[in-house]
Amino acid sequence: MKSVPFYELKPGQVVAEDVFKGSTLLIAKGTVLKARDIERLKNHGIKSVTVYDENDFIAGRIEERITVQFEDIPPLVEEEKYTQWQEQFEFVKDITYLKEDTSELEALVEDIYKKFLKADDLVLNLFHSIGEKALNAHSINTAIISTLVASKLDMPELFLNYLLKTCLLHDIGYSLIGSRVIFDYEDLDDVTVRSHILSAYEMLRGIQKEIGKDVVDSVSTHHERFDGNGIFMRLKENSISPLVRILQVGDAYDSCIEVGHSPYEAMSFLLRYSGLIFDPYYVSVFFSIAGLYPTGTEVILNNGKRAIVIRKGKTSSFPVVKFDDIIIETGVESGLFIKEVVRKGE
Ligand SMILES: [Fe+2]
Ligand SMILES: [Fe+2]
Repeated sequence: MKSVPFYELKPGQVVAEDVFKGSTLLIAKGTVLKARDIERLKNHGIKSVTVYDENDFIAGRIEERITVQFEDIPPLVEEEKYTQWQEQFEFVKDITYLKEDTSELEALVEDIYKKFLKADDLVLNLFHSIGEKALNAHSINTAIISTLVASKLDMPELFLNYLLKTCLLHDIGYSLIGSRVIFDYEDLDDVTVRSHILSAYEMLRGIQKEIGKDVVDSVSTHHERFDGNGIFMRLKENSISPLVRILQVGDAYDSCIEVGHSPYEAMSFLLRYSGLIFDPYYVSVFFSIAGLYPTGTEVILNNGKRAIVIRKGKTSSFPVVKFDDIIIETGVESGLFIKEVVRKGE
């Protein structure tokens, strides 16, 4: 545990002691901090917060758990299945095991492929984890979202197999170096961000024959940018593998959510950096799946009700929403429209 001044708090940290203002509990022990929580603490004049550090996870002082992003909405995949994938991923990120045997990786690829290749009418409500398994969840979520994108594109089976492996292994470097930057699209000069690419390359090239050269190359180039301003190779546009360009959509979206941004903000990030970081084509494919207001976005309707987006409607701008236990599609027929998106901290 360590005491952290409020200006150094980061989304994803776990609160180790209740935070009170007078007798009011502001944030309870065990809360995974989101951007809005940090803002709230700041607004209440809280100077520092005790959070768990990595040693607490290793020593098992924090209970590993998975949480679904939006509790009022059914998850994208059953919790039991997701937990099983998390367990399988333990074998994937264990380098000594992976070097000996890639069958767990293949089994996981096969399972996610079967589940999401033909999935329709989706509720994009993902699980996340805290603790050691946070990377497992992020890797699996990246694989799920990227498969959804690729499933719209009629890609050959081998491409999907490589894509899933690339997604599952893309951040394995963090596991090797023992620390992680959750949202790693912001500061490409960060030492940890650079190291996770280098160490992954060092490790994966040893099993290139087993997992495929394209997978190793894609993991090593997953922080190149569409405009050529990425790291190491400075590849540009079509010289970046389509495996990478699809992965980046799922990767950035999930890490945005993991650090506490709303689904609307995560989608906005993809749109804002379309053509800069991301390939606009693959962003547009994901946009056509998730819509402008992805699952979980909180909105205010023209009837004054606060509602939550359940899934995309017939078009990208008119989602299906839930309020007062009513589930209804916005648009001309219902006469319901989104007046505004609820911002964080409100
Ligand atoms: Fe990364
Ligand atoms: Fe990532």
